[in-house]
Amino acid sequence: MSPAEEAALAAAAVKVRGLAYAPYSKFQVGAALRDEDGRIHRGCNVENASYSQCQCAEATAIGAMVAAGARRITAVAVAGPDGVTCTPCGGCRQRIREFAAPETPVLVCDSSGVLARHSLAELLPASFGPETLG
Ligand code: THU
Repeated sequence: MSPAEEAALAAAAVKVRGLAYAPYSKFQVGAALRDEDGRIHRGCNVENASYSQCQCAEATAIGAMVAAGARRITAVAVAGPDGVTCTPCGGCRQRIREFAAPETPVLVCDSSGVLARHSLAELLPASFGPETLG
């Protein structure tokens, strides 16, 4: 991914963050996924009065990606509130793993740009993935 492509992915995460439905936590999150064709799929968190039904931004983005016909994630950007290094939650690390290789970059962003860079393997070591099932 070129620096321009990385910046575009980060900007997509920040932009969709603004659409988050987070009236309970007030913690808006956006996620952008780059697929193997270079397309970007976006999602934001969607909360619910029944708190356990809240959906993370990454889960929304994965649903959008799958519904668009893509099946491989080649890079991820997540944007939480400005100044917050919002790495994906544990459950979302596993959700991403379903469609991404361990070396896939995960960028944590805010409106100032990229705050942190990890591989998926750093966030989810010794992971259980589709290959494990054989
Ligand atoms: N959230 C995400 O959207 N992604 C994460 O990886 C961490 C948490 C959301 C869920 C909830 O709507 C709010 O942030 C506070 O936890």
